[in-house]
Parts: sequence; C-alpha cells; structure tokens
Amino acid sequence: MTSSIKRRLPDGQLRFGLMWFNSQTPYLTSAVAAKTNPPVLDVSTQIVLARAAESAGFDFLFLADTYVGHGEHNARIGHAEPRLYSPVWGAVLATATEHIGIASTLHTKYLPPAVIARMGANLDVVSGGRWAWNIVPGTMDDAIIGMAPLDHAERYAHATEAVRAVKTLWQSRGEPVEFEGDFHRFSGRLIGPHHIQEPWPLLFNAGVSPAGQQLIATECDYGFFTLVDDLDKVRGPVENIARLAVEAGRDPKEVNLIGTVAVVMGESRAAAEEHFAQLRDSIDMDAARAWASNFLGRSQTYRDTHGDAELDAAARSVGVASGAKVLLGTPDDVAEQILAIHRETGLRGYQITPLTWSEKEVLQYGEVFDVLERAGVWTPPHKRGFSW
Ligand SMILES: Cc1cc2nc3c(=O)[nH]c(=O)nc-3n(C[C@H](O)[C@H](O)[C@H](O)COP(=O)(O)O)c2cc1C
Repeated sequence: MTSSIKRRLPDGQLRFGLMWFNSQTPYLTSAVAAKTNPPVLDVSTQIVLARAAESAGFDFLFLADTYVGHGEHNARIGHAEPRLYSPVWGAVLATATEHIGIASTLHTKYLPPAVIARMGANLDVVSGGRWAWNIVPGTMDDAIIGMAPLDHAERYAHATEAVRAVKTLWQSRGEPVEFEGDFHRFSGRLIGPHHIQEPWPLLFNAGVSPAGQQLIATECDYGFFTLVDDLDKVRGPVENIARLAVEAGRDPKEVNLIGTVAVVMGESRAAAEEHFAQLRDSIDMDAARAWASNFLGRSQTYRDTHGDAELDAAARSVGVASGAKVLLGTPDDVAEQILAIHRETGLRGYQITPLTWSEKEVLQYGEVFDVLERAGVWTPPHKRGFSW
C-alpha cells in the first residue's frame, strides 16, 4: 500500500468530509433505512464504503463517537447503537485506504493526555500520516465512565488544557517532559512510535458555544457545526471563527469551518424529493424523540439554533441528520446548492451526512465534485498532494 502523508494546505478551496457509517442507521432514526443499509459491523462493508469515498474525492472520513446510546427504541432500530468505537475502526479504515484522512473521536475527559497522545501517534503511523483527532470534551457519557459532570465552562477549560498537554507530549518526541496544569500533571518520557504529520495530527472540534469556538480558533485546524436552512446562522460562525483566529495570531485560512449537511440524490429533482419524503415518513418517532431530547439537552447553542419547538416537531427535524439542511436533487443540483451556500456565506468546508448507505451512493458524490471543479472552487485531492 502506498500511503500519502496529508499536509495542511490552507488554499481557500472547498473540502469535503463524510460523516461515517458507524451504526446501522447513524443519521436517520428509521428502521426502514437500517434494513436497506449494508451490515455496519461487517468489515468488508466498511472497506468497500471507505474505498468508494476515497475514489469519489472525499478528503476525510469522520468517525463521531460516544459511549452511550439514546435508549431502547434507538437500539431496537440500530440508530447510534451498536456503534463503532472510533479509534479501533479508524485503524481498519486506514489500512483499507491510501490517501483519505481518517478522523477519530477521543474524549479529553475520559482519557489521560498520554493515552490520547500514544493512541493518536499509533493511528497516525498506521495510516501513514493521515489521522486526525476529533476533540470532544465529553458530557453525556459521564455516568458509565464513573465521573462527575463538569459544568460547560469547566469542561472547556479542562479540554483546552488537555489539548495543550497532548501537543506537549507530541512535540517532545520521546524527550522528557513535565506538565503542570490545573487539571493535568505528569512527567517523564512517552515511548514511540511518534506521529508522522507535522507539527502533529490534524485537530477537529465541533464546539458551537463561545467556549467551543475559542478552542477551535486557538488550538484546532477544523471546526464543525450543523448547517441549517437559515444562512444567517451559517455566516455568523464563519465570520466569528475567522475573527477569533486573527485575534489568536493565526491566518484565518488555517482554521477551516465545516458545515454538516444531509444529501439525498436521485435521477431527477422530483425523484430525490420523493425519496426524501419516503425516508422522512419512515422515521420511528419513539427513537426520534429520545435522540432529540438527548441532542437538544447537550447544548444551549443547539436549542437556540433549532428553536423551542415542542418535542415531536423537534424530533421530526433532529431525527433527520440532526436537523441539518437537506440538499436534494441530481448531482448537478446538489453541486449548485453547495456553490450557492459557499458564495453566500464563505463557508469552505462541508461534511456530507448521507441518510442511506451503499457503494453506489457514495461514488455518486464524484459527480458533485466534478461540477465544483469546473466552477473553480474545488481541486481533486490528487492534484493537491491529498492535502487536508
Ligand atoms: C459534526 C459534529 C460532530 C460531533 N461529534 C461528536 C462526537 O463524536 N461525540 C460527542 O460526544 N459529541 C460530538 N459533537 C458534539 C460537540 O462535541 C459539542 O458538544 C456540541 O456541538 C455542543 O457544543 P458546545 O459543547 O460548544 O455547547 C459533535 C457535533 C457536531 C456538530
């Protein structure tokens, strides 16, 4: 296998990630979708889909993760449970592919910095320099881990210090280090292997609150948020992250913001709309309600973004790709919608959240990317050294 080290290239062009197929129906609380998707725990399914994403032209696969599910109804239909543990399956996907980035979630609250640094360095080696860390402070899994909750501000203070501690370990490359923080204290030397990417693996964070955005702008390369229909709510975070990055002494192009969007493609716009209507009508409301209350309970910013709708309305919206905007139509239509969002908001990063999964559907994104290339906003990964 010839692997390529992914280098950061802040060129202002569009980048695309794929929210990964990590449970039987990860982004639609629907038993119908679960039945039509291929078996999620089958390693050969994972390999086929990962190779399809790489050949279509995606930049990275994003493995979100938590330790707990959303209840019996979600487990019954295969929504978010059972769920792939992201560092372990990240290694599987890395060995199946050559150039695409692999982002695994590791929670700063649950793992000591040396464990994260060592796991990350090994995943970077396994992938040949293509691994990224999705930094999650940790909230909803505290009870099963046996930890007391931290309030929001303290959680981000803890996470920010953990990220600096992990960077300190990575930078040391086996030399002795000493770290004295408010939450983390350690000394000694961490054994290799050491990471391949410079200065360290790429860092993602999906914090949407002011504290989360500060962490993204000061410490990370990529930030995430859910792209909603109201484009004013998209422009705000784009401008805010750029301003915070400048305040932190960074080039705003170094910090790329990624909006998650759902996509349903069809042979015509009408066919895509009809397919989407069928999928939306297939939602299991018990599972959707449980997911919506967990999701909205997680963040004040989510509640502000999705409004104070009563639970069933929220479940119908959040049950489909966490309430993200849905792009519908032929590959040409979808590309036009991405271009319109890009032109109107300046957003350069997009994370596609498919509602159903097959090799054919993943490959079809290549047709979307072709249109974007002709429009001059996207360069195929192989023409830019498979850079981030
Ligand atoms: C695209 C995306 C991916 C996320 N991935 C995870 C994840 O894997 N695990 C997790 O516990 N939280 C995840 N989150 C939640 C965020 O870590 C964060 O808690 C949430 O966006 C609320 O932001 P705040 O903590 O700044 O209020 C994700 C959010 C988004 C938008």
